[in-house]
Amino acid sequence: MFGLMDQFKCPTGRRGRYVAALMNRGHKPLTLWGLTHVKIEPEFVILDVGCGGGKTVSRLAQRAPRGKVFGIDYSADMVEYSKKVNKKLIAENRVEIVERSVGKMGFSDDYFDLVVSNQVLEHVAALGVVLQEIQRVLRPGGKFCCLFPSREVIREVHCGIPIVHWFPVESWLRYPWMILFRSMGFGYDKGGKPIRRWASDFLECLDKLTFYRTYPEIRSIFLKNFSSLEHIEEEYIAFRLEGKRCITCAQFSRSAPVKYVSRWLCRRMSGLVLVATKA
Ligand SMILES: C[S@@+](CC[C@H](N)C(=O)[O-])C[C@H]1O[C@@H](n2cnc3c(N)ncnc32)[C@H](O)[C@@H]1O
Repeated sequence: MFGLMDQFKCPTGRRGRYVAALMNRGHKPLTLWGLTHVKIEPEFVILDVGCGGGKTVSRLAQRAPRGKVFGIDYSADMVEYSKKVNKKLIAENRVEIVERSVGKMGFSDDYFDLVVSNQVLEHVAALGVVLQEIQRVLRPGGKFCCLFPSREVIREVHCGIPIVHWFPVESWLRYPWMILFRSMGFGYDKGGKPIRRWASDFLECLDKLTFYRTYPEIRSIFLKNFSSLEHIEEEYIAFRLEGKRCITCAQFSRSAPVKYVSRWLCRRMSGLVLVATKA
């Protein structure tokens, strides 16, 4: 009913498989970069929470050739898709994909050396419960690396319309705002829908399927469950600049005072990149 946005929360059926392929391709640079910023030992046992199309699981398995990587997702279709993508690694007992919700994962305490999650936490209603569960399954000293947008992001990441997620749900302005920006050519997943229908479907979806929190709220929930929280958003900006061969600019963006500006920019353009540690 909604278009592709509902598929990002719980991909199902033919459209879900299409979205899985899109995510495997589209999230590649971000995940590859994110994974260079956490230490992965060859024998690590790793969990990918909300593994979607399963490519991150394969990439992690390459980095931990003597360990094991688990992927969980609550969409049965994504689990099936991920199993196909990781068929060989599953046969070698290096990968396991399980249909499970992140709120109740069923692994024993202190089981994983590393937990990762990409573009999932903005779809989670009870963030505190989920973080408590992730911290439970991490071993002491283990890290949780996650990427997801906070409320500060300027362009809503699923529909592509600036600041529409900042309006209160009851605001009458949201609908004309969507129509105005869509008429100016903004917006993703237009799918041949009439503008009004597209706008109302996306708004309904936004209200049901996303839970945007401010950065201070997120930080406070993380720090109730983890002993430390590190930010590496400025590294993402530097990585993008290096990709464009602006090496001097990349170095500049990492330098002491400027890195706070880079961090601010990244949070507004793409989202948060956090590494939390269990005591
Ligand atoms: C936007 S996709 C991201 C997929 C993948 N992490 C990637 O980077 O391509 C979000 C995924 O998280 C899964 N998901 C969302 N909430 C979940 C939950 N509470 N428990 C398990 N999986 C969940 C969805 O089914 C979907 O596959």
